[in-house]
Amino acid sequence: MVGIYFSGTGNTKFCVEKFLTYYTGGVTACSIEDGQTVEAIKRNTEIVFAYPVYFSNMPKIVYDFINRNHSVFSGKKIFVIATMGLFSGDGAGCSARLLAKYGAHITGGLHLKMPDCIGDEKALKRTNEQNHLLVIAAENKIKEAAENLKLGNPVRQGLGFWYHMAGLFGQRLWFYNKTKKYSNKLHIEREKCIGCGICVSACAMDNISLYSGKAEPKGNCTMCYRCVNYCPKQAITLLGKKVYEQCIIEKYL
Ligand SMILES: Cc1cc2nc3c(=O)[nH]c(=O)nc-3n(C[C@H](O)[C@H](O)[C@H](O)COP(=O)(O)O)c2cc1C
Ligand code: SF4
Ligand code: SF4
Repeated sequence: MVGIYFSGTGNTKFCVEKFLTYYTGGVTACSIEDGQTVEAIKRNTEIVFAYPVYFSNMPKIVYDFINRNHSVFSGKKIFVIATMGLFSGDGAGCSARLLAKYGAHITGGLHLKMPDCIGDEKALKRTNEQNHLLVIAAENKIKEAAENLKLGNPVRQGLGFWYHMAGLFGQRLWFYNKTKKYSNKLHIEREKCIGCGICVSACAMDNISLYSGKAEPKGNCTMCYRCVNYCPKQAITLLGKKVYEQCIIEKYL
């Protein structure tokens, strides 16, 4: 089994690696940002496919990855993991339906509540201790799910009609436009920026460049929040106006 994932701030990477540890005893996971990923899919029949949920949908970068490489998914056995701050309805189902359309066999789905990565909104902020407990609970769930898959009795969270309805009416319909296109809403405060380039090299979309020692965004953001959470000067915002907390998984382990 190989793990294929997208992870903005580390939650999903952590979860897929734990799943592989419990399922196979080792970790072979590739990010979709990595050039070797398509070859890794071709070489493996069994895949765990993982991503964070954005507005009850999969990130645009994940949607485009699947569509661009659709032929490699045919005949693969895919277990889908969706991580989220609170709720998604059918977070796993979003990619599962698309992958099944391209000929994959979906073996199961797992929803994992993890720390909220949106650092510039107060809404879902928890203490470090609460986030730490969330991560422990997620790991226990992962262990159980991996054991159940081994026993041939996989969990099927996010898959099926009722989950689909919950995702659609619970959130996706109202926020559908947010994940349909890449965003041009990233804001970088010029006065705060020291031109360190961390955001430039971190960005999954090559969406930030340095001009005259200051970072500037283009209009091609998948909203992963990596740059917002890594910037040493808290100069970057996306959905909110001010950085309240820089959220990265290492703080909560
Ligand atoms: C743009 C955006 C939208 C999000 N929408 C949702 C959502 O609809 N429901 C939810 O429970 N969490 C939502 N989240 C929280 C993330 O899914 C969650 O923190 C996830 O575990 C982050 O994973 P990562 O660290 O691998 O990027 C959203 C995060 C972002 C950045
Ligand atoms: S990480 Fe922050 S300080 Fe560094 S270049 Fe980007 S915006 Fe500027
Ligand atoms: S600009 Fe920032 S939030 Fe947008 S894709 Fe790049 S790293 Fe992620």
